[in-house]
Amino acid sequence: MRTTVVAVVMVMLCVMMAHADMKPQRDFNLQRFAGKWYRLGLAYDSPAFVPYRDKLKASMGMITPLPNGNVNLTMWDATTVGCQIKVYQYEKTTVPGQFTYFSTRHNMVKDVTVVDTNYTEYALVHKHKAFNREYTQVALYGRSQTVRTDVIQRFKAFALSRGFPRESILTPPPAGNCPPSGSRR
Ligand SMILES: *[C@@H]1O[C@H](CO)[C@@H](O)[C@H](O)[C@H]1NC(C)=O
Ligand SMILES: *[C@@H]1O[C@H](CO)[C@@H](O)[C@H](O)[C@H]1NC(C)=O
Repeated sequence: MRTTVVAVVMVMLCVMMAHADMKPQRDFNLQRFAGKWYRLGLAYDSPAFVPYRDKLKASMGMITPLPNGNVNLTMWDATTVGCQIKVYQYEKTTVPGQFTYFSTRHNMVKDVTVVDTNYTEYALVHKHKAFNREYTQVALYGRSQTVRTDVIQRFKAFALSRGFPRESILTPPPAGNCPPSGSRR
């Protein structure tokens, strides 16, 4: 009984430490982060993602801040059945730059941290399941469809430092006609 309690406390401590070591961008400014981004890089740790890795495209996303501090992330995903729009609802936490969202795909709450951004060019976003490291991802977002090599290097170095294997760090090609040109904002 007692050892169970100790074990639970230890697990809680580890979880809290795992949270504490993922610091968001200092002085995170949601209004400056708003608008259009392209997901130019992705590092994954889930073996379930392997069948999708070669299909991945540099999808476009739109960050819309809501008046209450939450965020809608709209993503345009090129799929085999065409260009699909998905809206993800990120809820704010007490820490600026940190959000939570409920993944319907994995049926679990995930933490999302904007780790590093200069707002006008790139952003590194870390996503993980609260309570363990399953389905952890790092994404590189760019304001345009290409970013400078040193920004790509920064993304790769960050993912490697978080323990992602080199072969799980992807920089997918652009998502052809998705959203269809003409409807692009
Ligand atoms: C945010 O997303 C929700 C769910 O899709 C939608 O109902 C709501 O209108 C969106 N809000 C804005 C400002 O886009
Ligand atoms: C931030 O973005 C601007 C381009 O808008 C770029 O000139 C600048 O070098 C970037 N800063 C860093 C640290 O990458």
